[in-house]
Amino acid sequence: MATHSGLAQSYDVAGSVEVDDFGGWDFLEAGHGHDLAGQANDEARARRHVDLTDIYFEVGFVRYHQLTVAPNRILCGPPNALPFPPHRFRMSTPASVPYNATLINREDINPQLIVFRVQPDGELFAFKPGQFAVLGLLGGEPRLPEAESEEATPDPAKLIRRAYSIASSSVERRHLEFFVTLVNSGEFTPRLFALRHGSRLFLQPKASGVFTLDKAPPGKAVLLIATGTGLAPYISMLRTMLIHDTERKFVVLHGARCSWDLGYRAELESLARIRPNFTYLPSITRPAEDPHFRGHTGRIQNLIAQSVIETASGVALDPARTDVFLCGNPDMITQVKDLLAPRGFVPDHGKQLGSIHIEEYW
Ligand SMILES: Cc1cc2nc3c(=O)[nH]c(=O)nc-3n(C[C@H](O)[C@H](O)[C@H](O)COP(=O)(O)OP(=O)(O)OC[C@H]3O[C@@H](n4cnc5c(N)ncnc54)[C@H](O)[C@@H]3O)c2cc1C
Ligand SMILES: NC(=O)c1ccc[n+]([C@@H]2O[C@H](COP(=O)([O-])OP(=O)(O)OC[C@H]3O[C@@H](n4cnc5c(N)ncnc54)[C@H](OP(=O)(O)O)[C@@H]3O)[C@@H](O)[C@H]2O)c1
Repeated sequence: MATHSGLAQSYDVAGSVEVDDFGGWDFLEAGHGHDLAGQANDEARARRHVDLTDIYFEVGFVRYHQLTVAPNRILCGPPNALPFPPHRFRMSTPASVPYNATLINREDINPQLIVFRVQPDGELFAFKPGQFAVLGLLGGEPRLPEAESEEATPDPAKLIRRAYSIASSSVERRHLEFFVTLVNSGEFTPRLFALRHGSRLFLQPKASGVFTLDKAPPGKAVLLIATGTGLAPYISMLRTMLIHDTERKFVVLHGARCSWDLGYRAELESLARIRPNFTYLPSITRPAEDPHFRGHTGRIQNLIAQSVIETASGVALDPARTDVFLCGNPDMITQVKDLLAPRGFVPDHGKQLGSIHIEEYW
């Protein structure tokens, strides 16, 4: 069925379309990367055969992707609408793009939350558990169709970069794992969530950050407090350290809206069963939306105030014996810091180490 709106002319297709003559196409009106697109186009015209993936094209402001051109055939992935002929056509990874890594695995925890793995083209850089990496995607990459529209469309050639805590163990040398939430109105995450297995992206070739267990003196217990994806650095710490460290006590206090937002729950529950020095305390804040959840409810501050940590783990909320790590929502960080201050907990101040260590996500 053909539809017309402004410049866009689209045909709904259920899977595939036969094309006999590429010559009728007006492929090129590309921005950066037109060399590769031009090459593809020339090849298509000359040989009527081109086998390319990761191509997308735009009609007006609508981007269509997952298009594969094979001999006389076009296969179109979602959305199942093929504008015909396309007004613009170009590679999503033109030669000038500094993409140096590949998304090799993606697990959708729920529509708002993914765990994914990125493999660099070369050797993976060394990092300490708790550090973050910087990922990048071009402004021209397609966003999730269901995401809120952007106030201003970024320059397609601009590399949008964002920091993400590494969730994988630092002894894992093949890939990095990340735990990311979708910010519907965001610039980066709607593009990140549109990627699929094999997609290319930018990975800054070094880790950064000082939110590491180096800050906690040996012998002290460690209380790891997170909201949402603030859990990510702790996953790296636990996966790396808990194998060897059977003495130090670790507690994870994780606040999320509902049980389906408690990423890594199964892994942490298993770990808690086999490691007597580890306690996992998840809490959901929207129990009315998740009435079957059996566990702690309410914000993290409630659990602290109700002495749930001491009771469940034996870890004392005493700065002489315990260091606290805080990661995630900045309001949570401020409020928990204030709550712990009367007990004598002091945040790091510049290079001067305190008993509270902080990573703010925004
Ligand atoms: C050191 C560091 C490590 C980080 N690690 C992670 C991580 O492991 N996982 C992750 O999902 N994000 C992480 N972030 C946040 C990440 O860098 C981006 O800010 C986030 O993905 C939103 O990007 P965006 O362009 O889509 O949204 P933007 O257009 O930049 O909008 C930002 C807004 O989104 C909201 N927001 C940002 N991050 C989050 C979040 N994690 N949870 C809930 N709301 C959020 C806030 O309201 C913020 O003002 C980290 C940030 C820093 C500084
Ligand atoms: N996860 C979802 O189901 C969902 C649904 C729709 C949209 N989103 C979008 O996804 C993005 C991330 O959402 P998110 O839920 O991962 O992150 P978030 O909004 O930071 O919430 C994560 C957890 O932190 C809690 N929290 C917030 N402020 C706090 C504070 N001051 N002290 C203690 N705890 C606090 C929240 O409790 P409260 O519940 O009390 O706020 C929630 O349990 C947002 O852009 C959001 O709009 C998520």
